[in-house]
Amino acid sequence: MSKFYITTPLYYVNGNPHIGHSYTNVACDTLARFRRIQGKEVLFVTGTDEHGQKIKEAAEASAMEPKVFVDKVVPRFKELWQKLNISYDDFIRTTEPRHEKVVLNILEMFYGNDDLYEGEYSGWYCTPCESFWTKAQLVEDKCPDCKRPVEHIKEKNFFFRLSKYQKWLVDYINAHEDFILPVIRRNEILSFLQNPLNDLCVSRPRARLSWGIPMPFSEDHVTYVWFDALINYISVCGYAEDKEKFEKFWPADVHMIGKDILRMHAVNWPIMLHAAGLEPPKTIFAHGWWTIGEDKMSKSKGNIVNPMEMVDRFGVDAYRFFLLREVPFGVDGAFSETALINRINSDLANDLGNLLQRTLSMIDKYFSSVVPERRPVEKADDITRNMIRAAKNLGAAVTAGMDKIDFSQSLSAIWQLINIANKFIEQKAPWKLSKEKKTDELKDMLYDLCEVLRVVSVALWPFLPSTSEEMARQLGLEDKEKRTMELFSWGKTNPGTKINKDKPLFPRVEK
Ligand code: MSP
Repeated sequence: MSKFYITTPLYYVNGNPHIGHSYTNVACDTLARFRRIQGKEVLFVTGTDEHGQKIKEAAEASAMEPKVFVDKVVPRFKELWQKLNISYDDFIRTTEPRHEKVVLNILEMFYGNDDLYEGEYSGWYCTPCESFWTKAQLVEDKCPDCKRPVEHIKEKNFFFRLSKYQKWLVDYINAHEDFILPVIRRNEILSFLQNPLNDLCVSRPRARLSWGIPMPFSEDHVTYVWFDALINYISVCGYAEDKEKFEKFWPADVHMIGKDILRMHAVNWPIMLHAAGLEPPKTIFAHGWWTIGEDKMSKSKGNIVNPMEMVDRFGVDAYRFFLLREVPFGVDGAFSETALINRINSDLANDLGNLLQRTLSMIDKYFSSVVPERRPVEKADDITRNMIRAAKNLGAAVTAGMDKIDFSQSLSAIWQLINIANKFIEQKAPWKLSKEKKTDELKDMLYDLCEVLRVVSVALWPFLPSTSEEMARQLGLEDKEKRTMELFSWGKTNPGTKINKDKPLFPRVEK
């Protein structure tokens, strides 16, 4: 059995979780669930990033000690993940001893190898980004990343020799096509690497910031929050603690992130790993951003989408579906309630919901809620054979999208089958078959529709887990905890199965 290790970023706990956080976690959850269907041993990890200036300031604003403050915020993330059906295997907090231990271990190793040295830093600092900039890098005297004011500082610090490994990194990226995805992000990093890298400042003087992991070789410094946080990806899977686990899961298969934190992940992190004698992750995938119309979401604009509220109003699966279906994964998307409602009404209520409802109503009406037996398929007509072919191909079609981390491709393959099946009902006109007493034909078509719906429910499980389970229940299938690729094969519904027709899956939403 092969393994699949997937990670989300560790979220800052300076505020409540928002749509951006939920986007990454839903995407990772979907991929993790799909790999589980494939029979892989999955390690899916999320967690929280709890050190640094930003967190300290948020704690101060709430008049709390940082640790008391983060302990209060972390459950809000966990609550949201539960609500969104996020099936993570482990949750790591950077304030946990199992993580801090590994950070110290890596710092000592780098110091001992002379990959870390003491120097003096003079330059411009952006607190929200926790980043140093040179005068030349500033844009209109502001932080080039977030465009906020920076402050000038001069201080003793510790530096990690990024520059020493620049050539190695460029060669590595060039030799590994899937290392940074999508390709536009790969090109962005390669072009950034055309300029010489500065060494990375990995400490903060305690006099300025006390909330961080203490540096093992200097009482006056704590560890830079990004250096600390990236290490979670190895500390959570057993580095220096559980050799067997670590060797099984490392390197990670996918680090899923947003495009804004690409450089940290695709430049600093692989070099840190290389300096530690470890392999880089197989893929770093940077997804796009959700905006409100053309606008960035921000606290000051008060336009932040609250995932809890969306789930309460529209349901968890409608929200998950929208995130993964509305835009191709990797590009930016404009969030709006109108777009969400349109998706619910057309794709979920109309296409999927109706297909299930119509099929079950007919089985109810014509065969007293019992799935009929079908004749050998070999004799079926072209439209039937065409639909069965599409159903038999669904597993492969969904896999193709998932292998490219292209959720909308997989979903559109599922919806193609749903649409074929809806059209099939129109073409077959079962009401006519019933009137004309063509009972065998009616039995065949209803059996086939049950099979299509069963296969669709398997394919939907990674995306819409509760809907998939509800479909299985209404189809009278024993709800198998464990979904497998095997279930994509045709003919698994037993004739004689009693269905449980129930409420429509997705009621239409009025605008
Ligand atoms: N703590 C760091 C990550 C450390 S990983 C070792 C961090 N945290 S964060 O909470 O600020 O952001 C986490 C993620 O949220 C990023 O991947 C970011 O891209 C994502 N998003 C924040 N706003 C977003 C949108 N509006 N849309 C989509 N994702 C966005 O950065």
